[in-house]
Amino acid sequence: MNKHVGTSVSGAEGEDLSKNSEIHLDAGFMASVAGAVGTPFYCYSPEVIARAYEELSAALSPVDVSICYAVKANGNLAILQLLSRLGCGMDIVSGGELERVLEAGAPASRVIFSGVGKSASEIAKALVAGVHQINVESPAEFHLVADIAASLRRRAPVALRVNPDVDARTHDKISTGKKGDKFGVALSEVAGLFEAAAARPEIDMVGLAVHIGSQILDLAPYRHAYGVLADLVRDLRAKGHSVRRLDLGGGIGIAYGAQGAPEVSELAAIIDETLGDLGCALTVEPGRWLVGRAGALVTTVLYTKEAGDRMLAIVDAGMNDLMRPALYGAVHPLEVVRSAAGGEGQSYGLVGPVCESSDIFGLYDGLPTLSAGDLVAFRCAGAYSASMASTYNARDLVPEVFVSNGRFRIVRRRQTTAELLALEKDTTWHDIASSQAP
Ligand code: LLP
Repeated sequence: MNKHVGTSVSGAEGEDLSKNSEIHLDAGFMASVAGAVGTPFYCYSPEVIARAYEELSAALSPVDVSICYAVKANGNLAILQLLSRLGCGMDIVSGGELERVLEAGAPASRVIFSGVGKSASEIAKALVAGVHQINVESPAEFHLVADIAASLRRRAPVALRVNPDVDARTHDKISTGKKGDKFGVALSEVAGLFEAAAARPEIDMVGLAVHIGSQILDLAPYRHAYGVLADLVRDLRAKGHSVRRLDLGGGIGIAYGAQGAPEVSELAAIIDETLGDLGCALTVEPGRWLVGRAGALVTTVLYTKEAGDRMLAIVDAGMNDLMRPALYGAVHPLEVVRSAAGGEGQSYGLVGPVCESSDIFGLYDGLPTLSAGDLVAFRCAGAYSASMASTYNARDLVPEVFVSNGRFRIVRRRQTTAELLALEKDTTWHDIASSQAP
């Protein structure tokens, strides 16, 4: 079990040091929202998201870098609408995300289609929609995009995602830029694909893309990767190829609790130093940094009990609602929103109701006494929380709520079991020619 010390990021009352960059969880207000929508629920502050976008834009404006939000972090329509209205582009990885961003009103001309395994129908949909760029990750995908573009009589704007062979020094499961990782094209293959593009008029080879991983707290790997990219651009240009755009990926980390996180202005400085003189149009694709701190997962304590030498608080949110602790050993800061008993200095293991030993959020110290009915919240749950949720144990997807200035807005209502069951009703057998039967 993970141990997390110093859990409370902000008090429910009084001075809230993180107010500008994190959602504020007022006890009385949260209790009212919980009463209205039930727990668990995710709540997001649109102001905090907007502020993060403005801060990042301001930091990147001296280096003229545009921002495409990585929709996978949180694809809620209301969030996409908010960011799109602020002028943010979108980075998508599936046909579903394409539908989402278009539904949110984001122009296709500001959409980048990333992802290692795009299907033919997803590629066709993206070309028909007129996306800004498709980031291609293999020679096979390059030829498929060319064939589909030819059949649609369109020209595909393609960037090659390269694997720079750089260790992002983050969790192994979210590191993507090392040789042997499934992502990107090997450096040695890049020039050959630029050559191939010259023979395929339906491909407009616009440039290169790189993404080395996620939740990156040490900026040195960026410097390394962007240096590799700069060398590649010079090499390609020396061979007579044009490289107009560079997509620099996402991955910038946030502080989950006590550990520090890098300043985005430092990232801007690294971009300037390594790539500033190349004359390319630059884009970044952050997900977590824009929405992570703006959200919390609010949950009710169902029971407390002793387990060996520790106390457990069993809450009504489970690993299906917040998978990051089980999957990566991540620890989300815990805030006790409302404790009936009060007190301090207590330690609890916070666990969910799912029938898996890995349904554990962490061991938290310095808490008040918890009892059934108390309200607690896992902070930094704006990114990769709702978007990674599942219905395991037949648990319905829970609501997502915007909170702002004493009001709330349900931006995704609670799913019902009836809706899930409907997918499994009225089933029929279909006949297949006997030679294909199992
Ligand atoms: N661009 C590409 C091509 C990506 O694969 C990703 C994330 C991003 C941008 C955005 O990365 P961000 O700025 O959000 O770090 N589920 C994991 C994170 C997986 C990230 C996958 N790719 C987690 O909960 O930590």
